[in-house]
Amino acid sequence: MDYLKAKSVKSLKGTIDISGAKNASLPLIAMTILAQNSVNIKNLPNVADIKTLLKLLTNLGACVSFEEQKVVVDTVPLHETKATYDIVKTMRASILVLGPILARFGHCEVSLPGGCAIGQRPIDLHLKALEQMGAEIEIKAGYIEARAPKGLQGANIIFDKITVTGTANIVMAAALARGKTTITNAAREPEVVQLCEVLQASGVKIDGVGTAVLTIEGSAGKLINIIDFSIIPDRIEAGTYLCAGAITKSEITLINVEPKHLGAVLSKLEEMGSSFTIEKNSITIHPSETIKPVKIVTQEYPAFPTDMQAQFLALATQADGVSIIEEKLFENRFMHVSELQRMGADITLNGHTATVNGKMQLSGTDVMATDLRASSALVLAALVSEGETNIHRIYHLDRGYDSLEKKLEGVGANIKRLKE
Ligand code: EPZ
Repeated sequence: MDYLKAKSVKSLKGTIDISGAKNASLPLIAMTILAQNSVNIKNLPNVADIKTLLKLLTNLGACVSFEEQKVVVDTVPLHETKATYDIVKTMRASILVLGPILARFGHCEVSLPGGCAIGQRPIDLHLKALEQMGAEIEIKAGYIEARAPKGLQGANIIFDKITVTGTANIVMAAALARGKTTITNAAREPEVVQLCEVLQASGVKIDGVGTAVLTIEGSAGKLINIIDFSIIPDRIEAGTYLCAGAITKSEITLINVEPKHLGAVLSKLEEMGSSFTIEKNSITIHPSETIKPVKIVTQEYPAFPTDMQAQFLALATQADGVSIIEEKLFENRFMHVSELQRMGADITLNGHTATVNGKMQLSGTDVMATDLRASSALVLAALVSEGETNIHRIYHLDRGYDSLEKKLEGVGANIKRLKE
């Protein structure tokens, strides 16, 4: 297994190229199951979760080829409809194939994804919505067995909670259903918006894109001629590197980024003292000499993203004063706290709220990544710690960050990937 060895440096300088968004890529790859053609996808990030989903599609009979700057996914030959435990257990977002496979074939078996480090991660809302669309769903021996022999029927879905992959699953199922589906309390994340936009551009009638109420006119089982598309920039990767600039008090520029997707993150970094030069597809951070404390509550887009909570918690350890960070989406998304405390951070956890007393000088030591975003928080802390930090179990990091240590080395960080 690999680990990262990092030491602090005086400051970083230079430009970081932002990759395509993992959380846009996953539903868009699943969407190819609805296609009557070979689909060309550009700007897919080179991360483990994308490889896992492409492998799942291949296991089901699809053909995937990697060409210069694009991936070609042909699901016309796809004939298997069972997503097995061995793959699903490594990536719970495999649940995204449930809607498309059921809509296309009238039956589908997907291993229950199970929870993960950050929480129980139920999928009850996905299943309830599909049942409203006429699916018969049984849970048997750890598998979801879904059947819709006469195809899916458009329905009026009201999500009890905003669910990102739940919205994506139902949008894709509705695209092939008979009649109209309305989704109320839909997720508005940019990744869901891109899924809707690609389907719209491929001829699917969708209204309300980017709002909490989506209506989708289904094709009654007719496969879709999916256009070529390029994945939007990864706003969480971008936010993570902005935090790297803020925590090391370095001026760095991000390119191939979409500033419009980072409103809440930029606003919180401004509250903490940073300022920005923002162009169409680039952001330069101008950090402040002292970092101000902050109050953060994680919520659905466009509010502050839960996927940036760990990174801001690391940044808050360097703020002059007391920061309060409340995690409202997941029940166990503070696994990074104990590792940061071992580095010397002064953090008190009380239920879903972390109180961070800064500024604390952190010390490098051996730490363990526990989940994707916690891993990047430990990297940020390592950049300002005295001595060396070894970050272990970085397979978590590799699930969602494309070449993180190379991108940081490129702006002067002292960080290496080594073998245990
Ligand atoms: C997506 O997960 C992202 N993953 C997560 O990013 C992100 O943290 C999350 O949305 C919230 O923004 C992908 O897009 C692949 P949810 P998802 O369904 O869709 C509850 C990362 O770091 N819920 O929006 O699984 C759920 O328990 C990952 O890249 C139900 O109760 O999240 C949670 O409290 C981590 N029943 C809330 O809704 C359901 O059926 C939001 O979950 C579904 C969800």
